[in-house]
Amino acid sequence: MRGRVVLVAALALLPGWSTAAERALTLPAGLQEDAAQIPDDNPITPAKIALGKKLFWDKRWSASGTVACVSCHRPDHGWSDSRPYSTDFAGRPSPRHTPTIINRLFSDQQHWSGVRPSLEDQAAMDADRGAFKTPTLRDVALRGPYMHDGSEKTLDDVVAYYDRGGVKNSWLSTDMKPLGLNAQERADLVEFMKALTGRIDPAVSRPPDLPK
Ligand code: HEC
Repeated sequence: MRGRVVLVAALALLPGWSTAAERALTLPAGLQEDAAQIPDDNPITPAKIALGKKLFWDKRWSASGTVACVSCHRPDHGWSDSRPYSTDFAGRPSPRHTPTIINRLFSDQQHWSGVRPSLEDQAAMDADRGAFKTPTLRDVALRGPYMHDGSEKTLDDVVAYYDRGGVKNSWLSTDMKPLGLNAQERADLVEFMKALTGRIDPAVSRPPDLPK
């Protein structure tokens, strides 16, 4: 089985798929095939991946014709948004900071609140109060600002936030305690997170040819 599943970021962004449909694909090293969440009623096919990439880029199917998935999930920003809140087709701010869509194939929970049980549900429509799911740390250094509200600008800010024990509020987890890290330890944590930056084939981020 190993090596037959595809790494997909949300609606699938693999390079060369439209032209190399028949080519067997391998997961990049380190990714476990058995961790991929592929519903029995929606198997991954090269045709779906190619179509998904077009839809991801095509602004024409938004109500105003001005916004596509790529407007908020930006390839040049770790597939998230540099703005604390994105702007939707009507110019309104998104309710939460736009998360990355990298490696979504490997999670059974979508959305900050984990309310969408599948990517299928997620694409069709973008839980415990105050509780947010733990997002992937892959490529985290590429995509500030951080948190569900984009409130922490840099990874140093994020580590300082945890070091303080978060912000007191009625929903703060009892596991959140001030950590008492020293400057070196805080810096080491940030360096570690930078080491989680990977390489995505540039072809994945290249805009597709859209039908006229
Ligand atoms: C206007 C900005 C915007 C657009 C356009 C947009 N998204 Fe999102 N996306 C978001 C925000 C904000 C969230 C987080 C929502 C939440 O948790 O409440 C999100 C969440 C997601 C998630 C879940 C990620 C996770 O880690 O839980 C996926 C997958 C996703 N979007 C894919 C898409 C796809 C596919 C499209 C195009 C059909 C799209 N998005 C269009 C802003 C956007």
